[in-house]
Amino acid sequence: MTSRVVQYRRFGGPEVLEVVEREDPVPGEGQVLLAVRAAAVNPLDWKLRSGAMAGTDAPPEPQVPGYDVAGVVEAVGAGVTDLAVGDEVLGKAPGAYAEKAVATATSLVRKPASLSFAQAASVPVGATTTYRVLDLLGLGEGDHTGTTLVVDGASGAVGVYAVQLAVARGATVIGTAGAAHQDDVRALGATPVLYGDGLADRVRALAPQGVDLALETAGKGALRDLVALTGSPEKVITIADYAGAQELGVTFSSGADPADERRWLADATECLADGRFRTTAVVTYPLEEAGKAQDDNQYGRVAGKLVLVP
Ligand SMILES: NC(=O)c1ccc[n+]([C@@H]2O[C@H](COP(=O)([O-])OP(=O)(O)OC[C@H]3O[C@@H](n4cnc5c(N)ncnc54)[C@H](OP(=O)(O)O)[C@@H]3O)[C@@H](O)[C@H]2O)c1
Repeated sequence: MTSRVVQYRRFGGPEVLEVVEREDPVPGEGQVLLAVRAAAVNPLDWKLRSGAMAGTDAPPEPQVPGYDVAGVVEAVGAGVTDLAVGDEVLGKAPGAYAEKAVATATSLVRKPASLSFAQAASVPVGATTTYRVLDLLGLGEGDHTGTTLVVDGASGAVGVYAVQLAVARGATVIGTAGAAHQDDVRALGATPVLYGDGLADRVRALAPQGVDLALETAGKGALRDLVALTGSPEKVITIADYAGAQELGVTFSSGADPADERRWLADATECLADGRFRTTAVVTYPLEEAGKAQDDNQYGRVAGKLVLVP
Protein backbone atom coordinates (compact mmCIF):
# COMPACT_ATOMS: atom_id res chain seq x y z
CA MET A 1 0.00 0.00 0.00
CA THR A 2 1.10 3.55 -0.64
CA SER A 3 0.09 6.84 0.96
CA ARG A 4 0.90 10.55 0.77
CA VAL A 5 3.60 12.26 2.74
CA VAL A 6 5.14 15.76 2.89
CA GLN A 7 8.92 15.78 2.43
CA TYR A 8 11.90 17.97 1.58
CA ARG A 9 15.14 16.93 -0.13
CA ARG A 10 16.98 20.23 0.33
CA PHE A 11 16.87 22.97 2.93
CA GLY A 12 15.11 26.24 2.17
CA GLY A 13 11.79 28.07 2.30
CA PRO A 14 8.32 26.51 2.25
CA GLU A 15 8.74 25.83 -1.49
CA VAL A 16 11.08 22.89 -0.74
CA LEU A 17 8.14 20.96 0.72
CA GLU A 18 6.51 18.51 -1.68
CA VAL A 19 3.72 15.97 -1.34
CA VAL A 20 4.78 12.56 -2.67
CA GLU A 21 3.39 9.04 -2.63
CA ARG A 22 5.48 6.41 -0.80
CA GLU A 23 5.20 2.83 0.42
CA ASP A 24 3.54 2.66 3.83
CA PRO A 25 6.14 2.22 6.58
CA VAL A 26 6.10 -1.04 8.52
CA PRO A 27 6.10 -0.86 12.33
CA GLY A 28 9.08 -2.55 13.96
CA GLU A 29 9.37 -3.99 17.45
CA GLY A 30 7.64 -1.74 19.99
CA GLN A 31 6.13 0.42 17.25
CA VAL A 32 2.69 0.99 15.74
CA LEU A 33 1.56 2.22 12.34
CA LEU A 34 -0.83 5.15 12.61
CA ALA A 35 -3.43 6.35 10.17
CA VAL A 36 -2.67 10.02 10.83
CA ARG A 37 -5.80 12.10 11.38
CA ALA A 38 -3.96 15.28 12.38
CA ALA A 39 -0.34 16.46 12.62
CA ALA A 40 0.47 19.78 14.27
CA VAL A 41 3.01 22.33 13.04
CA ASN A 42 5.72 23.27 15.55
CA PRO A 43 8.33 26.02 15.13
CA LEU A 44 10.99 23.28 15.19
CA ASP A 45 9.59 21.96 11.90
CA TRP A 46 10.35 25.14 9.93
CA LYS A 47 13.63 25.72 11.78
CA LEU A 48 14.83 22.26 10.66
CA ARG A 49 13.45 22.73 7.12
CA SER A 50 15.32 26.03 6.73
CA GLY A 51 18.66 24.30 7.36
CA ALA A 52 19.47 26.80 10.13
CA MET A 53 20.05 23.91 12.53
CA ALA A 54 22.13 21.78 10.11
CA GLY A 55 25.79 21.86 9.25
CA THR A 56 25.28 20.71 5.63
CA ASP A 57 23.54 21.95 2.45
CA ALA A 58 20.98 19.19 2.22
CA PRO A 59 19.68 16.41 4.46
CA PRO A 60 21.26 13.00 3.76
CA GLU A 61 17.86 11.58 2.81
CA PRO A 62 14.38 13.05 2.25
CA GLN A 63 13.02 14.41 5.52
CA VAL A 64 9.39 14.20 6.57
CA PRO A 65 8.63 16.97 9.08
CA GLY A 66 6.48 16.72 12.16
CA TYR A 67 6.23 15.16 15.61
CA ASP A 68 2.87 16.01 17.14
CA VAL A 69 0.29 13.51 15.96
CA ALA A 70 -3.19 12.14 16.56
CA GLY A 71 -4.51 9.14 14.72
CA VAL A 72 -5.81 5.61 14.73
CA VAL A 73 -3.64 2.52 15.23
CA GLU A 74 -3.63 0.59 11.97
CA ALA A 75 -1.03 -2.09 12.72
CA VAL A 76 1.06 -3.09 15.73
CA GLY A 77 4.65 -4.32 15.73
CA ALA A 78 6.10 -7.14 17.82
CA GLY A 79 6.01 -6.65 21.56
CA VAL A 80 3.26 -4.03 21.63
CA THR A 81 0.71 -5.18 24.19
CA ASP A 82 -1.04 -2.05 25.41
CA LEU A 83 -2.33 -0.75 22.05
CA ALA A 84 -4.48 -2.51 19.48
CA VAL A 85 -5.70 -1.87 15.96
CA GLY A 86 -8.46 0.74 16.04
CA ASP A 87 -7.24 2.58 19.17
CA GLU A 88 -7.39 6.38 18.92
CA VAL A 89 -4.19 7.94 20.22
CA LEU A 90 -2.10 11.09 20.44
CA GLY A 91 1.59 11.63 21.00
CA LYS A 92 4.80 12.03 19.03
CA ALA A 93 5.70 10.39 15.73
CA PRO A 94 8.77 11.57 13.82
CA GLY A 95 7.56 12.29 10.29
CA ALA A 96 3.97 13.04 11.26
CA TYR A 97 3.21 15.18 8.16
CA ALA A 98 1.81 12.11 6.40
CA GLU A 99 -1.22 9.93 5.90
CA LYS A 100 0.62 7.09 7.66
CA ALA A 101 3.38 7.34 10.27
CA VAL A 102 5.20 4.96 12.56
CA ALA A 103 5.40 5.82 16.26
CA THR A 104 6.99 4.16 19.27
CA ALA A 105 4.04 2.77 21.20
CA THR A 106 5.34 4.19 24.47
CA SER A 107 5.27 7.71 23.03
CA LEU A 108 1.48 7.56 22.64
CA VAL A 109 -1.49 7.83 24.97
CA ARG A 110 -5.16 7.19 24.31
CA LYS A 111 -7.17 10.08 22.91
CA PRO A 112 -10.14 11.11 25.04
CA ALA A 113 -13.40 11.17 23.09
CA SER A 114 -13.93 14.78 24.15
CA LEU A 115 -10.93 15.96 22.08
CA SER A 116 -11.09 16.12 18.30
CA PHE A 117 -8.11 14.65 16.45
CA ALA A 118 -6.97 18.18 15.54
CA GLN A 119 -7.16 19.32 19.18
CA ALA A 120 -5.35 16.16 20.28
CA ALA A 121 -2.48 16.73 17.82
CA SER A 122 -2.03 20.24 19.19
CA VAL A 123 -1.12 18.97 22.65
CA PRO A 124 2.09 16.87 22.90
CA VAL A 125 5.07 19.20 22.39
CA GLY A 126 3.46 22.17 24.13
CA ALA A 127 2.25 20.23 27.14
CA THR A 128 5.28 17.99 27.71
CA THR A 129 7.72 20.90 27.35
CA THR A 130 5.76 22.70 30.05
CA TYR A 131 6.00 19.89 32.61
CA ARG A 132 9.74 19.66 31.98
CA VAL A 133 10.52 23.33 32.37
CA LEU A 134 8.32 23.87 35.41
CA ASP A 135 10.15 20.96 37.09
CA LEU A 136 13.47 22.61 36.21
CA LEU A 137 12.28 25.92 37.66
CA GLY A 138 11.38 24.21 40.94
CA LEU A 139 7.64 24.43 40.20
CA GLY A 140 7.15 20.67 40.01
CA GLU A 141 4.16 18.74 41.38
CA GLY A 142 2.95 20.30 44.63
CA ASP A 143 1.57 23.54 45.99
CA HIS A 144 3.45 26.67 44.92
CA THR A 145 1.15 29.25 46.42
CA GLY A 146 3.13 32.41 47.09
CA THR A 147 5.42 32.00 44.06
CA THR A 148 5.13 34.55 41.26
CA LEU A 149 6.11 33.33 37.78
CA VAL A 150 6.38 35.34 34.57
CA VAL A 151 5.67 33.39 31.37
CA ASP A 152 6.93 35.20 28.27
CA GLY A 153 4.91 34.06 25.24
CA ALA A 154 1.91 33.03 27.35
CA SER A 155 -0.43 32.85 24.35
CA GLY A 156 1.81 30.41 22.45
CA ALA A 157 1.52 26.65 22.17
CA VAL A 158 3.92 26.10 25.06
CA GLY A 159 2.87 29.20 26.97
CA VAL A 160 -0.79 28.25 27.34
CA TYR A 161 0.13 25.00 29.09
CA ALA A 162 2.82 26.70 31.18
CA VAL A 163 0.23 29.17 32.47
CA GLN A 164 -2.40 26.51 33.15
CA LEU A 165 -0.03 24.08 34.89
CA ALA A 166 1.61 26.77 37.03
CA VAL A 167 -1.80 28.18 38.04
CA ALA A 168 -3.03 24.65 38.85
CA ARG A 169 0.00 24.30 41.14
CA GLY A 170 -0.92 27.47 43.00
CA ALA A 171 1.53 29.95 41.47
CA THR A 172 0.62 33.54 40.64
CA VAL A 173 1.31 33.93 36.92
CA ILE A 174 1.94 37.03 34.81
CA GLY A 175 1.86 36.18 31.11
CA THR A 176 3.09 38.23 28.15
CA ALA A 177 1.15 38.29 24.90
CA GLY A 178 0.30 40.57 22.00
CA ALA A 179 -2.63 42.99 22.22
CA ALA A 180 -4.98 40.52 20.52
CA HIS A 181 -4.36 37.81 23.12
CA GLN A 182 -4.52 39.64 26.45
CA ASP A 183 -8.01 38.31 27.17
CA ASP A 184 -6.98 34.75 26.23
CA VAL A 185 -4.14 34.86 28.76
CA ARG A 186 -6.48 36.23 31.44
CA ALA A 187 -8.95 33.42 30.73
CA LEU A 188 -6.20 30.88 31.47
CA GLY A 189 -5.78 32.30 34.97
CA ALA A 190 -2.81 34.64 34.49
CA THR A 191 -2.50 38.42 34.63
CA PRO A 192 -1.76 39.49 31.05
CA VAL A 193 0.86 42.05 30.09
CA LEU A 194 2.04 43.29 26.70
CA TYR A 195 5.44 42.07 25.56
CA GLY A 196 8.00 44.48 24.06
CA ASP A 197 9.91 47.56 25.22
CA GLY A 198 9.27 48.52 28.84
CA LEU A 199 8.26 44.98 29.83
CA ALA A 200 10.18 45.01 33.13
CA ASP A 201 8.46 48.21 34.31
CA ARG A 202 5.01 46.93 33.36
CA VAL A 203 5.61 43.68 35.22
CA ARG A 204 6.93 45.48 38.32
CA ALA A 205 3.72 47.52 38.40
CA LEU A 206 1.69 44.30 38.32
CA ALA A 207 3.85 42.47 40.87
CA PRO A 208 4.73 44.75 43.79
CA GLN A 209 5.53 41.55 45.72
CA GLY A 210 8.35 40.83 43.24
CA VAL A 211 8.89 38.11 40.64
CA ASP A 212 10.39 34.80 41.79
CA LEU A 213 10.81 32.89 38.53
CA ALA A 214 10.50 33.36 34.78
CA LEU A 215 10.01 31.15 31.75
CA GLU A 216 10.90 32.51 28.31
CA THR A 217 9.09 30.66 25.50
CA ALA A 218 9.11 33.20 22.67
CA GLY A 219 12.75 33.84 21.75
CA LYS A 220 12.07 37.52 21.12
CA GLY A 221 14.63 39.22 23.33
CA ALA A 222 12.97 39.35 26.77
CA LEU A 223 15.65 37.39 28.63
CA ARG A 224 17.54 40.42 29.95
CA ASP A 225 14.31 41.89 31.41
CA LEU A 226 13.43 38.53 32.96
CA VAL A 227 16.83 38.24 34.64
CA ALA A 228 16.43 41.79 35.97
CA LEU A 229 12.95 41.00 37.30
CA THR A 230 13.94 37.80 39.11
CA GLY A 231 17.36 39.11 40.16
CA SER A 232 19.31 36.09 38.89
CA PRO A 233 19.87 34.11 35.66
CA GLU A 234 19.40 30.97 37.75
CA LYS A 235 15.73 31.84 38.25
CA VAL A 236 15.03 32.00 34.51
CA ILE A 237 14.74 29.26 31.89
CA THR A 238 14.43 29.69 28.15
CA ILE A 239 13.37 27.16 25.54
CA ALA A 240 13.72 29.54 22.59
CA ASP A 241 16.71 31.91 22.95
CA TYR A 242 19.90 29.86 22.80
CA ALA A 243 22.22 32.83 22.13
CA GLY A 244 20.65 34.94 24.87
CA ALA A 245 20.99 32.06 27.31
CA GLN A 246 24.71 31.74 26.53
CA GLU A 247 25.23 35.47 26.93
CA LEU A 248 23.34 35.85 30.21
CA GLY A 249 24.07 32.52 31.91
CA VAL A 250 20.45 31.38 31.69
CA THR A 251 19.61 27.68 31.29
CA PHE A 252 18.41 26.70 27.81
CA SER A 253 16.26 23.59 28.09
CA SER A 254 15.54 21.03 25.37
CA GLY A 255 14.82 17.31 25.20
CA ALA A 256 13.57 14.92 27.86
CA ASP A 257 13.48 11.28 28.86
CA PRO A 258 10.72 9.56 26.79
CA ALA A 259 9.31 7.87 29.90
CA ASP A 260 8.87 11.26 31.58
CA GLU A 261 7.31 12.66 28.41
CA ARG A 262 4.70 9.91 28.30
CA ARG A 263 3.83 10.43 31.98
CA TRP A 264 3.48 14.19 31.42
CA LEU A 265 1.42 13.69 28.26
CA ALA A 266 -0.88 11.28 30.09
CA ASP A 267 -1.38 13.80 32.89
CA ALA A 268 -2.05 16.69 30.51
CA THR A 269 -4.49 14.54 28.52
CA GLU A 270 -6.36 13.65 31.70
CA CYS A 271 -6.54 17.36 32.64
CA LEU A 272 -7.89 18.17 29.16
CA ALA A 273 -10.43 15.35 29.32
CA ASP A 274 -11.86 16.47 32.66
CA GLY A 275 -11.80 20.18 31.83
CA ARG A 276 -8.97 21.29 34.14
CA PHE A 277 -6.96 22.35 31.03
CA ARG A 278 -8.10 23.71 27.71
CA THR A 279 -6.34 23.40 24.36
CA THR A 280 -5.35 26.31 22.17
CA ALA A 281 -7.60 27.14 19.25
CA VAL A 282 -6.72 24.97 16.25
CA VAL A 283 -6.71 25.92 12.57
CA THR A 284 -6.54 23.11 10.01
CA TYR A 285 -4.78 22.86 6.64
CA PRO A 286 -4.57 20.04 4.05
CA LEU A 287 -1.18 18.31 3.58
CA GLU A 288 -0.71 20.26 0.33
CA GLU A 289 -0.63 23.50 2.35
CA ALA A 290 2.08 22.36 4.79
CA GLY A 291 4.39 25.16 3.56
CA LYS A 292 1.71 27.79 4.04
CA ALA A 293 0.94 26.45 7.52
CA GLN A 294 4.64 26.57 8.47
CA ASP A 295 4.94 30.13 7.13
CA ASP A 296 1.77 31.23 8.92
CA ASN A 297 3.27 29.89 12.16
CA GLN A 298 6.73 31.36 11.57
CA TYR A 299 5.41 34.85 10.84
CA GLY A 300 2.63 34.77 13.44
CA ARG A 301 -0.06 35.29 10.76
CA VAL A 302 -2.58 32.89 12.24
CA ALA A 303 -3.24 32.53 15.95
CA GLY A 304 -3.56 29.16 17.61
CA LYS A 305 -2.07 25.79 16.79
CA LEU A 306 -1.87 25.03 13.08
CA VAL A 307 -2.73 21.44 12.27
CA LEU A 308 -2.42 19.44 9.05
CA VAL A 309 -5.31 17.13 8.32
CA PRO A 310 -4.37 14.53 5.66
N1 LIG B 1 13.51 23.82 23.63
C1 LIG B 1 12.39 23.11 23.56
O1 LIG B 1 12.28 22.01 24.09
C2 LIG B 1 11.20 23.71 22.84
C3 LIG B 1 9.97 23.03 22.84
C4 LIG B 1 8.88 23.65 22.20
C5 LIG B 1 9.04 24.88 21.59
N2 LIG B 1 10.27 25.47 21.59
C6 LIG B 1 10.46 26.79 20.98
O2 LIG B 1 9.69 27.72 21.72
C7 LIG B 1 9.24 28.76 20.85
C8 LIG B 1 7.73 28.91 20.98
O3 LIG B 1 7.09 27.76 20.53
P1 LIG B 1 5.51 27.70 20.44
O4 LIG B 1 5.14 26.45 19.76
O5 LIG B 1 4.91 28.03 21.77
O6 LIG B 1 5.26 28.93 19.43
P2 LIG B 1 3.92 29.63 18.97
O7 LIG B 1 2.74 28.80 19.33
O8 LIG B 1 4.13 30.01 17.57
O9 LIG B 1 3.83 30.91 19.89
C9 LIG B 1 4.72 31.97 19.79
C10 LIG B 1 4.31 33.00 20.81
O10 LIG B 1 5.28 34.05 20.79
C11 LIG B 1 4.57 35.23 21.10
N3 LIG B 1 5.34 36.38 20.68
C12 LIG B 1 5.43 36.93 19.44
N4 LIG B 1 6.24 38.01 19.48
C13 LIG B 1 6.64 38.12 20.78
C14 LIG B 1 7.47 39.03 21.47
N5 LIG B 1 8.07 40.05 20.84
N6 LIG B 1 7.68 38.83 22.79
C15 LIG B 1 7.10 37.81 23.45
N7 LIG B 1 6.28 36.93 22.84
C16 LIG B 1 6.08 37.08 21.53
C17 LIG B 1 3.26 35.10 20.38
O11 LIG B 1 2.33 35.91 21.06
P3 LIG B 1 1.10 36.63 20.32
O12 LIG B 1 0.52 35.59 19.39
O13 LIG B 1 0.17 37.00 21.44
O14 LIG B 1 1.65 37.80 19.57
C18 LIG B 1 2.95 33.62 20.51
O15 LIG B 1 2.13 33.37 21.58
C19 LIG B 1 9.73 28.39 19.45
O16 LIG B 1 10.94 29.07 19.19
C20 LIG B 1 9.98 26.90 19.55
O17 LIG B 1 10.94 26.44 18.62
C21 LIG B 1 11.34 24.92 22.19
